[in-house]
Amino acid sequence: MKFSDLPKPSEEPRPAGTAAPLSEKSSLPPTASDPFKELEEKESASKPVKSLSAAPPPAEETAEEFDRKVREESLQATEVYSEAVSAARQIYRALEKPLEVEGLEIPHEALRKLMAVVRSDNQEILILADRSAPDNYLYGHVVNVAVFSLRLGLSVGLTEEEMLTVAAGAFLHDIGMIPYLPMVLRPTRLSEDELKQVQRHSEEGAQLLTKFPSLQGRDLEVVSSIVVQVHERMEGMGYPQALGQDAIHRLAKLVGVCDMYESLTHMRAWRSRLLPHHVLRVMIEEHERTFEPGLVKSLVEALSLYPPGSFVRLSSGDIGRVVAVNHGLPTRPIVKVLVDAQGQRVAAPKVVNLATHPILYVSDAVDETKLPTSDQRLLLELRAQRWWVRGF
Ligand SMILES: [Fe+2]
Repeated sequence: MKFSDLPKPSEEPRPAGTAAPLSEKSSLPPTASDPFKELEEKESASKPVKSLSAAPPPAEETAEEFDRKVREESLQATEVYSEAVSAARQIYRALEKPLEVEGLEIPHEALRKLMAVVRSDNQEILILADRSAPDNYLYGHVVNVAVFSLRLGLSVGLTEEEMLTVAAGAFLHDIGMIPYLPMVLRPTRLSEDELKQVQRHSEEGAQLLTKFPSLQGRDLEVVSSIVVQVHERMEGMGYPQALGQDAIHRLAKLVGVCDMYESLTHMRAWRSRLLPHHVLRVMIEEHERTFEPGLVKSLVEALSLYPPGSFVRLSSGDIGRVVAVNHGLPTRPIVKVLVDAQGQRVAAPKVVNLATHPILYVSDAVDETKLPTSDQRLLLELRAQRWWVRGF
């Protein structure tokens, strides 16, 4: 996680080359050249319709049918995600005492399984990557960054070998952060001096790669580049070396995009999370200055403008969770409707594929923990779903 990347309270000066706070960006009027807005408007020119829960289309797929269809994918994704989080916990805990540990293994098998699940277009894994680990954010963070990096790697056509290297690099990219955890887990923002200390984690992390003896030769070189350069940005705006665009390894750029996306869409001790849709909006608006333009576009294509796991309000007023994306239709995901337009829990949740409902569209992204509903139990359930609790 790059701390200077994160949106700060409005009284703080924003470091050069970082994304503007969303409150600032989201208030900007859309412009004709706004590619994000163009995508949204292209498919959103319909009028609101009656609540789905009040008038379900006769040919609608039920949530039960959809659930049955994805059950196998979900079980598979859960298993490999769990294995990867456990591996992260084991390795990151072992590195709490670096002087006492040698001969660590990279969890190749767990990373291969993650890659296979992502390759099979199992979108349940993207929903899991929207969650946080409750004990130490790093365990979930590095796995989530690996998932998003693999998904982005697939989109940009990485080879099998490069995909595995990216997964290892993403998984290990924050090993240097361990000594700084007491600082970053504090619920208050860091001072400038503390921020400088924390920024050492990239180079210190690369040095810790010697703890993984199987990592050698070309693999070591590339993984090391990813770990040390994940916070480098275009035009020398990143750290630790303020490298220029051509000097940053292309796989480090890829993991860097996913690291920022993951960080901003998950809460930290000192700030709340931001909605995935809004994070993508900021990233696409900032991409020319901060990231390789093609990479951000590819991330949006891979996740859609409403990524799996996020919540949206439909033009009908109904609210649901995005359960899958329709590739090539970034504003028309598949949505499981959970709350009706009156804020009531839907008795029989319905799955709506916006690709086959031209009249319906996503009207906005919503925070499921702040839904306008009097159903406190539903709110608690939705809040609980933000956390990965399996295996605790
Ligand atoms: Fe990170």
